[in-house]
Formats: sequence, structure tokens, C-alpha cells
Amino acid sequence: EVVFLNGGFVPYDQAVVPVEDRGFLFADAIYEVIRCYGGRFFRLDDHLERLEQSAAALEIPLPYDRARWTQVLEELIRRNGVRDGSVYVQVSRGVAPRAHAWPDGLQPTVVAIARPGGTPPAEAVRRGVKAITVPDNRWGLCWVKTTGLLPNVLAKQRAARAGAYEALFVRDGLLTEGTSSNVFVVREGVLYTHPLANILPGVTRMVVLEVAREAGIPVREQAIPVQWLERASEVILSGTNSEVLAVVEVDGRPVGDGRPGPVFARLREGYLARVA
Ligand code: PDD
Repeated sequence: EVVFLNGGFVPYDQAVVPVEDRGFLFADAIYEVIRCYGGRFFRLDDHLERLEQSAAALEIPLPYDRARWTQVLEELIRRNGVRDGSVYVQVSRGVAPRAHAWPDGLQPTVVAIARPGGTPPAEAVRRGVKAITVPDNRWGLCWVKTTGLLPNVLAKQRAARAGAYEALFVRDGLLTEGTSSNVFVVREGVLYTHPLANILPGVTRMVVLEVAREAGIPVREQAIPVQWLERASEVILSGTNSEVLAVVEVDGRPVGDGRPGPVFARLREGYLARVA
């Protein structure tokens, strides 16, 4: 297994980063997770565009342009023999003696790791998954894909402890997104999802919206009151790791009839058609 580190490919065990890397000290870093199917990246350009936006938000100068990123990541999966899997890319501000403000001229630390597999288990796809709701206690820049993920980590751990797959964040009584997925709710035949305001603009979310529009499913990007969960016919997650999954139980109460529904089936089918 080889890892991409600061311009070269090195064996996993030898890929080390100094202890004063600001990614380690301050979570002063951004990341992306990109899926590949059959040796080809899915929506790589959208992920790279989002990486650029995250970098700009944190004023981290990205060392590579899109052509170079593409070359690096393609070589990474090729060298690791990964055809169906994902890559994790992280860029931190760099290494400097610990101080909140950063000095000029830092060299960003770039890491990319490829892993095979990672698609949701067949059982989760077939039967749907459980979720819990948790207060959205994150900061105000949720559209930046930073490695500062403690609220997400703690919420996902709570979900796991409750035997659930995902935790859904609730802010001011509105459903925002999952800890690592975007959320959709179907109510009276309309597919709702939170608008792009202080949530992560998911690449898979965009794909789901495309599929829905193509399938003639009415879509509204509108904040969803958490009480709607009680009357929702379907709840659906989208994400690079989750792909498209049905949520069949929230906080111990069944969603609709407690089984994955027809809108989920259409959306997942459309997603799979695009990755094939
Ligand atoms: N998470 N919302 C949040 C908070 C996320 O962290 C993610 C992705 C998504 C879905 O975005 P996309 O469809 O672009 O993967 C939504 C990644 C996969 C992770 O943290 O592992």
C-alpha cells in the first residue's frame, strides 16, 4: 500500500507528518473523499472544485491545479490496484511552531490515501438504515470541508451506540444534514432537502437532485421542520460513502411503512446508472 505524501509515493508505514503540522494541532486542514468505480473516479471535477472552495475559505494555497490532482489521484489508485473504492485527500496549512496565527510562506502538507471497497452493505441498501436526531452544534461554515469534525464524530458515535447508521443534525428545529451525508425527505410526493446554506454542498446531493429532476419527481430545496419526520413517507441519505440509502427508522419510530420506498428506489437506480 502506497500513500501520496507531499509530491511523492511512499509506503504506508513510512508516510509520516511532523508533530507540529497544523492539521494535527488545529484541524487547520481541508479534505475530500472521492469514490471510484471500475477504476474511474466519480465526479472528480466536482470534488476538486469543492476542494478549491474549501481552500479559498481557509486561505490555504492549493499546490496543484486540477490536471495535476487528477494525475496524482489516478496514479494513486493504479499503484494500489484499487478499482472500486475511494480516495481520501487532505491538505493542511503546513508545519510551524504552535501559534494560532500562521506565518507567511508555509508549505501545505498534502496526503492522499486509496482504499478498496467502502460501499454500503447490501443489507443496508435492501432493508434501509436507522438514524437518530442530534442538535446541530457545528460552527457557521459547514460548507467548508474541514477536518475539524468533532461534532460529526461525537454525533456518529452516539448513533453507533444507539444501533443507528447515521445521526441527523437539527438546527433551530430544522433538519440540516447527516454527520457525513445529506438528507432528503419525501412528503406528499415532493422531495425536500435543505437549501445550500450552512450545509456541506454534497456532490451526491447534486447527483440525486439531477436524477430526481430527470425522473420528474418534484423537488424543493427548502428547510425541513424536524416534525415532518413523523408524517414523511420516505427519508433518504446521500453521500460518497452512503451512496443513496433509505432511512426506515428515526429515533426509534418507523418512517412511512418502515421499508425503503419508491422514491428511494428511483433515486438509487439513477445513481447506479451514472456510476456504471
Ligand atoms: N462526508 N454532509 C457532510 C457533513 C459530509 O461530511 C458529507 C461527506 C456529505 C456528503 O457529501 P458528498 O456527497 O460530497 O460525499 C454531506 C465524507 C464522505 C466524509 O466525511 O467521509
